[in-house]
Amino acid sequence: MAVLAKDQEPLVRCDDAARTYGRGSGAVVAVHGATCTVPPGARIAVVGPSGSGKSTLLHLMAGLDRPTAGRVSHPGLTTTGDGLARHIGMVFQGPSLLPPLTAVENVALPLRIDGVPEAEATARARAALDSLHLDSLAEKLPDELSAGQAQRVAVARVLARRPRLVLADEPTGQLDRETGRHVLAVLLAAAAELGAGVVISTHDPRVADELDTRWHMADGRLVRPGEKTEAEPEAEPVGDQRKSLGGPR
Ligand SMILES: Nc1ncnc2c1ncn2[C@@H]1O[C@H](COP(=O)(O)OP(=O)(O)OP(=O)(O)O)[C@@H](O)[C@H]1O
Ligand SMILES: [Mg+2]
Repeated sequence: MAVLAKDQEPLVRCDDAARTYGRGSGAVVAVHGATCTVPPGARIAVVGPSGSGKSTLLHLMAGLDRPTAGRVSHPGLTTTGDGLARHIGMVFQGPSLLPPLTAVENVALPLRIDGVPEAEATARARAALDSLHLDSLAEKLPDELSAGQAQRVAVARVLARRPRLVLADEPTGQLDRETGRHVLAVLLAAAAELGAGVVISTHDPRVADELDTRWHMADGRLVRPGEKTEAEPEAEPVGDQRKSLGGPR
């Protein structure tokens, strides 16, 4: 078996990872056994209908939720010794800014928690906000922002931290077409500069088209296009595979 260099190890590996909410007759299987990997530099779209398990899968991959069966590991991120969370940036689908903090304070907070000195954290936060054309909103409180502006601040908060894996849950869901394109372009450019992997859940085919690989979810299963969802999954989430990144292992 080929031995991968540490920097080529997958950022995330899901081995038959499942997540069930609740128990007994009320149990909901949000994700059936999913097996997939996200290699360094991968750019993956997760598409599928509402309720198909996209957010749940992203939360499992972020380590924010634990699988109820199977395993999620981060071989490429657990080698540096300074904590997994440091390397993973999650853009949440819903509101996630802290209400008492201004936009720039929200973006700077994770950096301060990482130990970045205040002046540098603020400068990096402002640069991230600038890159998303949000400089004029830096001193606003979340309540004073539109849903789309707040979502863009959440993207800035992730990019300012320079993660090695970006998991973005519908990051353009609240945005008009032009703004959505801009946010995606900034996100992908930042990821390319950092050499980060990107996984974006989206309902927008235009967003999915910008990425290299497409994973489909249906009823909690990762499936190939055209594959019957009733069938037991053959494990690999294979999309259009126009480029080979992010494919099955
Ligand atoms: N905390 C929870 N408790 C119980 N069921 C949940 C919970 N979170 C999600 N679910 C259920 O799990 C399934 C998958 O939800 P999930 O949010 O992952 O879907 P999604 O594909 O992200 O949908 P959307 O496109 O609407 O964001 C749904 O049936 C949902 O009702
Ligand atoms: Mg969702």
